[in-house]
Formats: sequence, structure tokens, C-alpha cells
Amino acid sequence: MNSLIEKAFSSNILEKDEIVFLLQNDFLNAELFDAADKTRKKNIGNKVHLRGLIEFSNICAKNCRYCGLRCSNKKLERYRLNTKNIIECAQKAKNHGIKTVVLQSGEDSFYSIETMQEIIHNLKKLNLAITLSLGEKTYEEYKAYKEAGANRYLLRIETTDPILYKKMHPKMNLNNRITCLKNLKELNYEVGSGCLVGLPNQSLNSLANDLLFLQNLQVDMAGIGPFIANPDTPLAKEPNGSFILALKIMAIMRLLLPKINIPATTSMETLNKNGQIIALQSGANVIMPNVTKINYRKKYIIYPGKTGIEQNEEETILSVKSKIKNIGREISTNFGTSKTWKAK
Ligand code: 5AD
Ligand code: SF4
Repeated sequence: MNSLIEKAFSSNILEKDEIVFLLQNDFLNAELFDAADKTRKKNIGNKVHLRGLIEFSNICAKNCRYCGLRCSNKKLERYRLNTKNIIECAQKAKNHGIKTVVLQSGEDSFYSIETMQEIIHNLKKLNLAITLSLGEKTYEEYKAYKEAGANRYLLRIETTDPILYKKMHPKMNLNNRITCLKNLKELNYEVGSGCLVGLPNQSLNSLANDLLFLQNLQVDMAGIGPFIANPDTPLAKEPNGSFILALKIMAIMRLLLPKINIPATTSMETLNKNGQIIALQSGANVIMPNVTKINYRKKYIIYPGKTGIEQNEEETILSVKSKIKNIGREISTNFGTSKTWKAK
């Protein structure tokens, strides 16, 4: 094994310049992916956890320049699901043995604390682990969801580069996002974060900082995905991010945080038709099949070409399961709580 990869594999430590070196050069890629795969196997085994993704509202108050859900995008037909619709999606997931649902939406203030509590209470009756992905909220809101029974929260930092963050996120504030992540940690959520790879003018140095930030914060999950240009956003003409670079970031993440949960993201699959399988073999241990009803998922267009958009919930789950089995991995039957998380 190359000495740098060996160091990362045995110590789970990399300096910033070492990460940049790995990102700049491709001659160690095969060894990097292999080391990440071995690290995953050694620390968390062969099981793949499934999370049923419910995209329950595509209405968003924010205006992130890369995202199709941004409030300035007038071309997108908007929708909201009610409690009953959401529970139906969750029940579908449960019927297929899925133990976690991820409730994802734009930043939509229509869903009050009371409404979210009602949704969470109903999902808890189904004995599901609940992950929320609702964006930036106050400490009190996060606390209320946690007390209602939510277990996990996903909030990607997107980029830790302050200049790039500002350019990409009009009227948003990097420090506030960091505060949100710290609040979620304090409330003892299992915290998921992550970054986008390949944003315009994003440097390898800043990507190395993103990795070290996530390591330092000790996230329990990290979702890494390539940027994909959406024609209905100001970044329409920008080139897509690189699949290989995103895969490298994901693999390094696995080396830096050996026990966390790492999803094989849909954006990886969008840029490479075997993207999720390749990710599962390069450090990932989670897949999030979409269990949103087809008529709605068609409208949840963060970026174009999202795979599985024409599939119904059943087909999506079955195809994910067969992918996992075909590469000799097992489907987890437990909640898939991160090995890094402890109840308080
Ligand atoms: N390409 C890839 N990923 C995107 N996201 C938003 N827009 C894009 C895009 N154009 C990601 C963000 C967000 C997640 C829900 O989707 O990282 O956190
Ligand atoms: Fe809204 Fe999230 Fe898209 Fe930003 S990335 S516009 S917050 S849905």
C-alpha cells in the first residue's frame, strides 16, 4: 500500500496538504477507493441500511443558486403533502422492511411546530426511525422535533469556503448554518451533514477544508454529491461536478470518520449509471430509495436527470435491493443507528 494511503488507513488522520495531494492526483485513486472499502468493512461491516426518502414539499423560501427548488424558480410546479399523504409513503417503506424514513422538504414555513409534531407522532406509531431534513430552524424548533421523537437531522454545510458560500447562498449566513449544526449536536440528534463537489470556483483546498470541518464536527453521517447544473437556475451554463472527484471526497471521508454512515447519493447515480454501486464499493454503506409518490417526485427537481423519477415506490425499492445483493452485500434489518452516536 502507498505510504500516504497506509497512514490514512491505519490512523484515520490526514493533514490538509495530504488531502489536497490526493485530490490533485489520480494515480492513487484505486488504492484510495480500496482503502475506504476496507475501512467500511472493518468498522461497520457488510450491511447496507435503507432510508425511505419522502420529499414532502418542494416549496422553499431560500434561493440557493444551484438548486431547482430555489424560490426564484417560477418554472417549477410546487406541491405540499399533508400528514395523511406522508404517512402513506412511510407505510409503503415499512411494508418493504425499511426501518428509517427521511422527511425532506424545502424551507417551507407552512409546516408549523405543531404540524411537524403531529407527523412525527404518527410516524413513531409505525416504529420507524425518523430523519428530518427541513433546513435551518431555531434551537427551539429542533428541540420540539426531537422531543416529539425525531432521531436524526440532515443539514449539509454545502461548502465551508466563506466567499463561495456567500456567492451560492443569497441572504444566507455560513455562521448561522454552523450554529444550526452545533445546536443539532447539542440536542443529541444523530447529525448528518456533507458538501457539494464541483461548484463553480470551488478549490481543492476548500474541499479539503470541508472534509476536515466534517471530521472536526464529528458528524454521524456525511452525504457527498457532485454539483449538477440545473437549466432553471443561474448556474445553468456551468459544467457539472466530477463524479470521480466526488467519489474521492467520499472515500477520504470514510478514512477520516471510519464508523459513520455514508450514503451512496442519487447525484452520484445521476452522473454515472453505476454510481451508487461504485460508491457502495468505495466507502458508502447507506442508500436512500425514494418512496415519494411518482407524481410528486417528478416535481422535486433539485437538479435534472435524477434517476428513478419514472419509477414507482415499489420499483425503486426493489431495484435498490437487487443492486445491493448483486454486489454481495446484505440489507440491514435494524434501524442502522450510527456507531458514533450514543443516547444521553
Ligand atoms: N446538484 C447537486 N446537488 C444539489 N443539491 C441542491 N442543488 C443541487 C444540484 N444542482 C443538494 C444540496 C442539498 C441537497 C438536498 O441537494 O447539497 O443539501
Ligand atoms: Fe431550498 Fe435546500 Fe434548495 Fe437551498 S438547497 S434552495 S434551501 S431546497
